[in-house]
Amino acid sequence: MNIIVIHGPNLNLLGTREPDLYGSLTYDQLNEDIKQYGHQLNLTVMCHHYNSESDIINEIQQSPSSYSGIVINAAAYTHTSVAIRDAILSISIPVVEVHLSNIYKRESFRHHSMIADVCVGQISGFGKYSYFLALQAIKFGSVKK
Ligand code: DQA
Repeated sequence: MNIIVIHGPNLNLLGTREPDLYGSLTYDQLNEDIKQYGHQLNLTVMCHHYNSESDIINEIQQSPSSYSGIVINAAAYTHTSVAIRDAILSISIPVVEVHLSNIYKRESFRHHSMIADVCVGQISGFGKYSYFLALQAIKFGSVKK
C-alpha cells in the first residue's frame, strides 16, 4: 500500500524551529523515521513538503492516482484553509490529519481545524508518533473515506 505524507508550511524547518514546541528532530530525520516505521507496517511512504497552499492542493488532487491514503500536517493552513478542505472533500481516498503539538493546548486560534471534520480522524500532540499512529490507523483501522 502506498501512502503519502504531506507536510505544510514551515515544517521543513523542524529541528531549529521552536524546538521547545516541536523538538529537535530535523525534518529529514522525521521523514526517515516515518518511512522506516511505514516499512515495518508494509507500507511504502512518500513524504513531501510544501510551503504554498496551492502546491498542497495540487498534491491532494493528484494523490488518488498513486496513493491509497494521505497523512497530512497542514501546519498553519489547518486553521485557515477552506481550499485545502475542499480539496480533501473532492477526493475519494482517506485522509488522516496529524499535528506534532497538541493544538488544543496552544493559542485559541489553533483550536479550530478547517479540515478535521472532512478527515477520517485527527491525531495531535505526539510528535513524530502522531505520524506513526496515523500510519497504524490506515493500516489496521480499515479507514474509509
Ligand atoms: C502544527 C500546529 C500548527 O498550529 C502550526 O501552525 C504548525 C505545526 C503541528 O504539527 O503541531 O505549523 O501543525
